[in-house]
Amino acid sequence: MAVNADIVFPAGFLWGASCAPHQNEGNNLNSDMWALEQLPGSSFVERSGDSVDFYHRWKEDIDLLKSLGLNSFRFGIEWARVEPVRGDFSAAELAHYRRIIDYCLAQGVEPVVTLHHFSSPLWFVQSGGWGSSEVVDRFGDYVAAVCPILDGVTWVATINEPNMFAVMYQMSIPLQYPDPAAVLARTGAARSAVDGEAGLNAFSMPEPKDEAAQTMLRAHARAREILRARTSAKVGWTIAIQSLVAREGYEDRLDHYQRVWEDTYLEASRDDDWVGVQSYTSQLVGPDGLEGAPAGAELTQTAWAYRPDALEIALRRAWDVTGGTPMIVTENGIATSDDRRRIDYTTGALNGIARTLADGLDVRGYLHWTFIDNFEWVHGYAITFGLVAVDRTSFERTPKGSARWLGRVAETNGAHLS
Ligand code: BGC
Repeated sequence: MAVNADIVFPAGFLWGASCAPHQNEGNNLNSDMWALEQLPGSSFVERSGDSVDFYHRWKEDIDLLKSLGLNSFRFGIEWARVEPVRGDFSAAELAHYRRIIDYCLAQGVEPVVTLHHFSSPLWFVQSGGWGSSEVVDRFGDYVAAVCPILDGVTWVATINEPNMFAVMYQMSIPLQYPDPAAVLARTGAARSAVDGEAGLNAFSMPEPKDEAAQTMLRAHARAREILRARTSAKVGWTIAIQSLVAREGYEDRLDHYQRVWEDTYLEASRDDDWVGVQSYTSQLVGPDGLEGAPAGAELTQTAWAYRPDALEIALRRAWDVTGGTPMIVTENGIATSDDRRRIDYTTGALNGIARTLADGLDVRGYLHWTFIDNFEWVHGYAITFGLVAVDRTSFERTPKGSARWLGRVAETNGAHLS
């Protein structure tokens, strides 16, 4: 499928790819996710280990991204590295992340920096973590420590997918106990609630409690206040949008799901400088509530229906609910071993962006998930979302056809036909 030749993407449109610290860096030793991976009986099918060694190979990756023709890169700062022990901020780790930012800026690659992407310091989780009354202060301390290295960064996301994380953070609760494996064994049912076969960000998860949502909103508001006072960054957060559609007669149910899963967070984005839209698939709401992929649908490796049109639905929804907050697509992609499907999917998604632009929606960029095949949380490394393949022994990177294709689309600002 070709990108529509009539598409006019605005000058300065961000064309890039995204990654996350725990999924790419490797050896994130002081984080809760690392501890969970080591627990007997944990939901992780394998450990993250060295991951794709982004911690050491970031320069190579930025060079590769640029050489492909992309002009922006979303990566994250890992709280567990910056503050491995409560109150002990590592100047060396902050300098590490500053070097990545400096290099991006020097190369003309726009950095989009996430401050929290699912993983937290183990000490924080052990002392109550996201369920404790201290969360806003502790997260705020970390954000304040990071501010000095954000000079020159325009786009900062405070929390990745707070709407998913409001449920997911519960995975780490066993770590608060002296014998986490025993707690995990006892709470197996609760565990399976967040690691269903449809993946971590599927709506097979239990609904987020309002209390957890309020915690996310408060942590975000504090971070935004600190960032605005101490940096010149534009501040937002990134929201998973499931592009929900009601079966006829079930519009009330749709309203309910949209409220608890999405609108609460998108409404907070009204006060932000931008919002990250993250979309993979679309789901129906019917008599039994949220429905999985329809029978006969083409499924991706994560068992999500193949829906390139989901992104357009998500952008229009975010635009409506935020009342016009500028948007960046901070994640969109497909888990597949068939790279032609990745190109087809992405073409469909980009044509969707083009239609929203034509209708006057303010979309500033498209960052594909993900740059390099990486650690897909509980599913491990078998799930491949990347534009670039990696040999996890030599760490050699090999761009797929989709990487070269997206690079050409980027270089022509969307006018390239495949
Ligand atoms: C997350 C990523 C994840 C991706 C695919 C998003 O929910 O932000 O960390 O890898 O979806 O599952």
